[in-house]
Amino acid sequence: MTRERIPLDELRQRVAACHACPLADGRTNTVFGEGDPHARVLIVGEAPGKNEDLQGRPFVGAAGKYLDELLAIAGLAREDVFIANVLKCRPPGNRDPRPEEIQACVPFLREQTRTIDPEYIVTLGNFSTKFILKTDRGITGLHGQLHQAGRFKVFPIFHPAAALYDSKKREALENDFATLGEMLAREDAR
Ligand code: URA
Repeated sequence: MTRERIPLDELRQRVAACHACPLADGRTNTVFGEGDPHARVLIVGEAPGKNEDLQGRPFVGAAGKYLDELLAIAGLAREDVFIANVLKCRPPGNRDPRPEEIQACVPFLREQTRTIDPEYIVTLGNFSTKFILKTDRGITGLHGQLHQAGRFKVFPIFHPAAALYDSKKREALENDFATLGEMLAREDAR
């Protein structure tokens, strides 16, 4: 028997009420994610930063502005995709997520993925890629290639924040988003 999909609004309320790890104590807002609830592409980042915590929305800071540009390269706008993170609360000082925080939070991402049921999951950076692909391999060796996880096509890409500090990553990011756009267009044309 297949399990019922939990509506996104209900999941959002569960996230808002969550105290499963100590990150809940330091948050201003949870960041559930946003976008098309039936999106063909689910984008998965790492965790909210300062601006995201203040506004309760994903990717609204400098990395988010760049993500908008990258989406445009793939022929996409924010409203066309759903954007979520591995963690729904901000780690203090934007430190890396800890294994126990990931473990506490990922049931939400798992349910979001089941409910949205995208064709593609675009993982941004190491944390989301390792979780979705269940691998220890780093993003440098995985980005820009199509992988499969269950029924989902998974396309890992560097995290846009990485390019803010390393201009060489820009080219890889922009190429990978162009490839994503080509894959989407190719299948559209079928
Ligand atoms: N970085 C992320 O991984 N997610 C956000 O929402 C913002 C910055």
